[in-house]
Amino acid sequence: MRRKIIIDTDPGQDDGVAILLALGSPAEIEVLGLVAVAGNVPLARTESNARKLLEVAGRTDIPVFAGCPRPMLRPLVTAEHIHGETGLDGPSFDDPTMPLQQQHGVDFIIDTLRAAADAEITLCCLGPMTDLALALVKAPDITRGIREIVLMGGAHFEGGNITPSAEFNVYVDPEAADIVLRCGCSITMLPLDVTHTVLSTEERLGRLAAIGNRCGIAAAEMLRFSERFDLARYGWSAAPLHDPNVIAYLIDPSLYTGRTINVTVELASELSRGMTIVDYWSVTDRAANVQYMRTANVDGFYDLLVERLAVLP
Ligand code: RIB
Ligand code: CA
Repeated sequence: MRRKIIIDTDPGQDDGVAILLALGSPAEIEVLGLVAVAGNVPLARTESNARKLLEVAGRTDIPVFAGCPRPMLRPLVTAEHIHGETGLDGPSFDDPTMPLQQQHGVDFIIDTLRAAADAEITLCCLGPMTDLALALVKAPDITRGIREIVLMGGAHFEGGNITPSAEFNVYVDPEAADIVLRCGCSITMLPLDVTHTVLSTEERLGRLAAIGNRCGIAAAEMLRFSERFDLARYGWSAAPLHDPNVIAYLIDPSLYTGRTINVTVELASELSRGMTIVDYWSVTDRAANVQYMRTANVDGFYDLLVERLAVLP
C-alpha cells in the first residue's frame, strides 16, 4: 500500500538524495511534508536546504517546517567538516523562494498523526530524532497514527562515525533516540552496518550524473562533495551512502535483510554516550523493539536510485 510519509531531516547531501528518491517514487510514496531539524548543520541551514531541494525537484507544493534548533538535553554537535558550511555544498543552489511554514515542525507531526487513520503515517528520520521524540512526549496519543518509524542511525558491527562507539544521528541526541526506541511503534533501523556497504563508487556516481537532468546532476555533485571526508577517513574506494536507504527500504523492502531484536541507547557514559546497544544475538531477555537491518542489495539499490531520479526534472 502506498506510504504517506513525513521526512524529518538535517540536509545534508545524503538527506538530499533521500528526499529526491522519495519524490521520484510517487507510486509508492506520498510525501506529506519535510520537517528540518538541527544536525549536520544548524536549523537555519537545514530548513533552507530542505526548501532548496524541493525547488530543484519542482515540488514546492510540499510544505517545509522548522523543527528543533538543538537536541533535547545536550549542546548541538554539527558536521560541517563533512557537509560544508551550507550543509549542501557541492552544487550551487539558488536561495529558496518557497515559504517556510509558520507552524513548528513538532506540531505538524502531532497534528498530522492526530488527523490520520490508525497506523496510516510513516515517519522517516534522517537526522537526530529530537522532533519525533518531543512530539511523542508532548502527545503520546500520536502513536495511534504511526504505521512505522524508519530511521537511519545507530551501529553495532561497524562501531561509530562521530565517536568510536556512536553513530552521528543517535550521538547528537541520544535521549531523543531513547524515547523513540521505547515508544512501542513498529521501528525499522538502517544502521551503519548496512550503509557502510552501500558505497558510491565513481561508476555509480557517473550513472547519476549521466541521467542528465538537474536532479541527477545535483545528486552526483552533492555526493562528490560529501565523499571527500569519508574517503580520507576510511581509505575505501568509495564513500558510504546513508539516508537514501530509508527511502529505498520503503520502496522495495526486499533490498534489505535483518532481524527483529532489542536495541537500546547508552545515555549515562560520557565515553560511549549515543552508542546503540544492539542485542544481535539475543543474549538478553529485553523485548525486541526494532527491525534491525544488516545487509543491502547494493546493486539493486543503485539501480533503483538511478531509475527514480530519472523521472525528476
Ligand atoms: O551517520 C550518518 C547520518 O548522520 C546521516 O543521516 C547523515 O546525514 C548525518 O545526519
Ligand atoms: Ca541526515
